[in-house]
Amino acid sequence: TVRSRAVDAADMGKDLEKVLITEEQIHAKLEELAGEIATEYAGKDLLLVGVLKGAVMVMADLMRALPISAPVDWMAVSSYGSGTKSSGVVRILKDLDVDITGKHVLIVEDIVDSGLTLSWIRANLASRSPASVEICTLLRKPDAAKVEVDVKWVGFDIPNEFVVGYGLDYAEQYRGLRQVGTLAPHVYS
Ligand code: XMP
Ligand code: MG
Repeated sequence: TVRSRAVDAADMGKDLEKVLITEEQIHAKLEELAGEIATEYAGKDLLLVGVLKGAVMVMADLMRALPISAPVDWMAVSSYGSGTKSSGVVRILKDLDVDITGKHVLIVEDIVDSGLTLSWIRANLASRSPASVEICTLLRKPDAAKVEVDVKWVGFDIPNEFVVGYGLDYAEQYRGLRQVGTLAPHVYS
């Protein structure tokens, strides 16, 4: 029921130490980015490519904010060995369904942390002869960058802390939180 879901959401929220970005801030930012993206790709053959699973919320809200229609496809990659650090080793778990030759590809991501995953994905997609490849990410951690990634649209630069919510998980939990925040220490112990 709606009521029990609201209670669940409140319970989930109790595990947050602090909220970095509210639902309202996320939605306002995505509206702004969607306007810029629509202008950039007007009249072009745009394909939105989401990176599973973290980008599901960003994609859902961005595509609804976009005043232009564009097909969506998904990729799933594994970049983390164990824990919360990027290993730099990327493996495709699910490839795109469609051929991107000649298409203007916009990669939609939840977060750019070390940048290792996205730079690998971008190079991989660029090798398939698209017309262009650009990146839109909701979050970026400038202090965590290990490689330079040219990201055309960034929602928010955040401190170098592990965050959850709005698609981002800790051990597959908390993806459903409507805001982005850091977890309280008790969750980790
Ligand atoms: P990199 O380091 O390669 O990030 O840029 C790869 C993927 O790791 C996930 N990631 C996070 N997930 N909280 C999360 O829940 C974080 O703070 C975080 N940092 C990175 C994310 O899926 C990203 O695409
Ligand atoms: Mg991700």
